[in-house]
Amino acid sequence: MTVLVTGGAGYIGSHTVRSLGESGREVVVLDSLETGHSEALLGADLVVGEIADFDLVTKLCRERNVRSIVHFAAYKSVGESMSHPLRYFSNNVGGSTALIDAAVAAGVEQFVFSSSAAVYGSPARVPVTEDLLPRPESVYAETKWMVERVLSWIGETRGLRSVCLRYFNAAGASFDSAIGEDWSVTTNLVPIVMKATLGKRPPLEVFGSDYPTRDGTGERDYIHVVDLAEGHVKALDYLDVGKPSLTCNLGTGKGSTVLEVLSATERISGCGVPHVFSARRAGDPAVVFADPSLAERELGWRARYGIEEILQTAWTWHSTHVDGY
Ligand code: WQD
Repeated sequence: MTVLVTGGAGYIGSHTVRSLGESGREVVVLDSLETGHSEALLGADLVVGEIADFDLVTKLCRERNVRSIVHFAAYKSVGESMSHPLRYFSNNVGGSTALIDAAVAAGVEQFVFSSSAAVYGSPARVPVTEDLLPRPESVYAETKWMVERVLSWIGETRGLRSVCLRYFNAAGASFDSAIGEDWSVTTNLVPIVMKATLGKRPPLEVFGSDYPTRDGTGERDYIHVVDLAEGHVKALDYLDVGKPSLTCNLGTGKGSTVLEVLSATERISGCGVPHVFSARRAGDPAVVFADPSLAERELGWRARYGIEEILQTAWTWHSTHVDGY
């Protein structure tokens, strides 16, 4: 039995491919390499192609005896999703429905989906529990929520069991620095902090210093990418024993503010983080952090690492891979 990982050459995908291999599973990756890197696979099996290619996916699933799919392949920039909405609907929703169609046709039984805490929008309360009604505030978030709905209905009508994992703020890199985040296009805080510290970009803009938080800056639940990867292994373990479809948060349950991220980075790197304070970024909530107890109860998963390990591994990765892979 093989696990097919779409988008396995991407940031979270590649860490998951590695964890799946370590768990003893046979893995094949399907990636277009539009944004992924073959180096990130560390030798895992790669098929270069599109998730929307029905014939390719059915053939691959049949030939490799694929029972489970872990689906990462998607565009992931919130800002770009607002300027190119149809690109996101087409790739993230259209691509995923074509993939699910092929999966069902080829007899795949289980599906793990890379969703996002972005589906909650600005949450009405924290910690965020899964019963909060999703209120996407971007096209990107809407596409994740739409695919969750598709999976729910295909579960109901075709029996495909799935786990949708809603990630909070993924960050960090592997502990041996073999793989990490390609920072060329990112707008996320941790890689921007690393880049600014290394003098590879202008000073970090701290978006807002008047939020109702302990130091006035935005608070988020940063989750180590290795913890996220292990969450996918646990999700497959859960499905492997025949359990029903599930949607759950992957977060730590603890928030860190922008200034806490800055000061920890200064301590770890021994360098100052060049920064300036600017206005709030439109649409940013003050505080978001997960209630991770459902994942702990149902999957037996909890985050092992905190902000310290996230920033330590991010710093080691970025300072040794200043130009990415
Ligand atoms: C974190 C904090 C910013 C950049 C986004 C997506 C979400 C998910 C994760 C995929 C906030 C502050 C940031 C900067 C700053 N992605 N910040 N200066 O907005 O919580 O979530 O990424 O699923 O969908 O919306 O993450 O890393 O952009 O911001 O001050 O240059 O850092 O205001 O408080 P966010 P982020």
